[in-house]
Amino acid sequence: MSNDDFPTDRPAVVTCGLPYANGDLHIGHLRGYIGADAFNRALQTLGQETAYVSGSDMHGTPVAVNAEQEGVDPEDFALEWHRQYEETFPQFNVDFDNYGHTHDETNTELTQDIVRTLDEEGYVYEKEIQVAYDPDADQYLPDRYVEGTCPYCGAKARGDECDEGCQRHLEPGEVKDPTSTITGNPAEYRERTHKFFRVSEFADYLTEFLDGLEGTSNARNQPRQWIEEGLQDWCLTRDMEWGIDYPGEDDEDIVLYVWVDAPVEYVASTKQYSERVGSDEYDWERVWKEDGDIVHVIGRDIIQHHTVFWPAMLEGADYNAPRGIAATGFITINGKGLSTSRNRAIWAEEYLDEGFHPDLLRYYLTTTGGLQQDVDFSWDSFQEKVNGELVGTVGNFWYRSLLFAYRNYEGTPEADVSEEVHERIEGAIGEVREAVNDYSLRGIGRAATRLAQFGNEYIQRNEPWKLTDEEPEEAAQVIRDCVQIAKAVGVLLEPIAPDKARQLWEQLGEEGTVADAHLEDALEAPPRSFDEPGELFAKIEDDRVAELNEKLEERVAAASDDESETESDDTDGDESADMAETDDLEPLLEDRIGFEEFQNVDIRVGRIEATEGIDGADDLARLEVDIGFETRQIVAGIKQLHDLDELPGEKCVLLANMEPAELFGVESNGMILAAGEQADLLTTRGDAEVGEKIR
Ligand code: MF3
Ligand code: ZN
Repeated sequence: MSNDDFPTDRPAVVTCGLPYANGDLHIGHLRGYIGADAFNRALQTLGQETAYVSGSDMHGTPVAVNAEQEGVDPEDFALEWHRQYEETFPQFNVDFDNYGHTHDETNTELTQDIVRTLDEEGYVYEKEIQVAYDPDADQYLPDRYVEGTCPYCGAKARGDECDEGCQRHLEPGEVKDPTSTITGNPAEYRERTHKFFRVSEFADYLTEFLDGLEGTSNARNQPRQWIEEGLQDWCLTRDMEWGIDYPGEDDEDIVLYVWVDAPVEYVASTKQYSERVGSDEYDWERVWKEDGDIVHVIGRDIIQHHTVFWPAMLEGADYNAPRGIAATGFITINGKGLSTSRNRAIWAEEYLDEGFHPDLLRYYLTTTGGLQQDVDFSWDSFQEKVNGELVGTVGNFWYRSLLFAYRNYEGTPEADVSEEVHERIEGAIGEVREAVNDYSLRGIGRAATRLAQFGNEYIQRNEPWKLTDEEPEEAAQVIRDCVQIAKAVGVLLEPIAPDKARQLWEQLGEEGTVADAHLEDALEAPPRSFDEPGELFAKIEDDRVAELNEKLEERVAAASDDESETESDDTDGDESADMAETDDLEPLLEDRIGFEEFQNVDIRVGRIEATEGIDGADDLARLEVDIGFETRQIVAGIKQLHDLDELPGEKCVLLANMEPAELFGVESNGMILAAGEQADLLTTRGDAEVGEKIR
């Protein structure tokens, strides 16, 4: 792995976590697939050779349990969903170079190959373990067939994951007070022999791997803690029939754990793409076995699988390691947890049926959440984004400049772009390049909308409509500049709003496709003549939003009525999404402390004096904070979460007697207090003076 900037001279691959083929797609899924798609498109605009691949996750209990509930064969069940996904993704302009599934031959062979290698290299051993069993159903209870309590945090957990608590992966037998999800009975334990992968041997390797890993900070930091606590070996097999067989074993009742074959689909899907276009065009083996740049976009509930098990598997089987992992946050709807069983979700189908253009949702999701932040979706905030930024800024600028150009010059006026505008566009290109290397989709969106904003100001400031008669050359210059800016905004926005960018491209009469354009093309002259343009964005009216809110409320209410009568039949693949309202909270600490201990914690009111991002650190900013006695230098992980220019002057609350630490070569002398994923900064509201102690 090497960390030279994108674009590199190596092939890259961008993947997104595979959706379980077990239910309807919703906004929680789309967020990741759109995010990864936008990131891949952005890499392409930089000139990076890259492919975007994924596939459906067909195996495991998430599929088996749901298929069983419907009384269908898991293979038929999963294939049906797979076909639906294949149709849905393109409707959101999610453009996979290959979309396979884990049950196909490529993945089956590759998975068995990798497992065989791990076995041959001595990384696999057999062990007898206690496995949950339901005597009434006469069935073993792997993973989602069993529920109980997380041994780490005490939250209610599924057999293999603490999905509502600490997000840890749980090994068979670990969940406390297990009950069968088939009958609701307490589970018995029976002894079985299973295969284990020696993950614990990879602790040093993984520590080093994480040190070099790019992407979002959560993907680096969580696993460090797990490694420090001590890694456990990983059970590779399960007592069930649906899945991929352990290579060379003919025990029909045992298959590989779904998390073994699922990530291998990243490789298998890349291989299928490579085989389709030819390895001269794109070489999967170079990517996965030599030096390609591998980027995984995942949900933050599956960080452990991607930063511990998966890289250990890759290393053990002599494959290349991921370069970057971006772990997206959760989605809430109107401030409450997205819940498929409560029907509190925005479904992919539903969104399209409402007649909204996919690029609106793409823009909304990428510019609010990017690849890391949580998103609280509401139709109101959707309307605000669309009307404010897409209609008001981008669409308005596109339409007024192209219309003016068409009416007065039947296209692009003859003139060279002014130096000011040329430089402004170059600046925006630089911003995008930097944003991509920071894995910041929000940065890409911001670069595009800010450029459109500049365009609006530019046209306003120069008032070309006053110049056409008296100063025709000046007028032509202004409009020439505006058409260039309009085109540049299109090129910059393409990763996020590919279809709208395509429409603009057509209006400009450009040849080729904007999807193939590189950032530098933003500076190339548009065609001399073009037709009358149309408006590309339309306002979302208030009554529309009111209607959508009402529909959503009714839906949720109807679902909770159902649920009080029947058991929850949650078919959600994206379990993160399923947190009940308060389940998102960290459990309270049991241990109490005395007042004296509290006295030793010196928390003060401060005022932020200055801020700057720390070069080379994705999330860190250097702050100067006045604490009454002196001004402290503090490093805080807020670079992406706050507009740093707006912080100076703000009061804050900080832990003043924190041991000094050095981060990215910058000394941090105190800790700013904040809460939540967005680092909501704590402050005081009354007359507390700078330097005062919090008591
Ligand atoms: N299907 C899994 C989930 O929804 C994700 C699998 S991602 C992969 O949680 F790494 F296994 F591919
Ligand atoms: Zn837990």
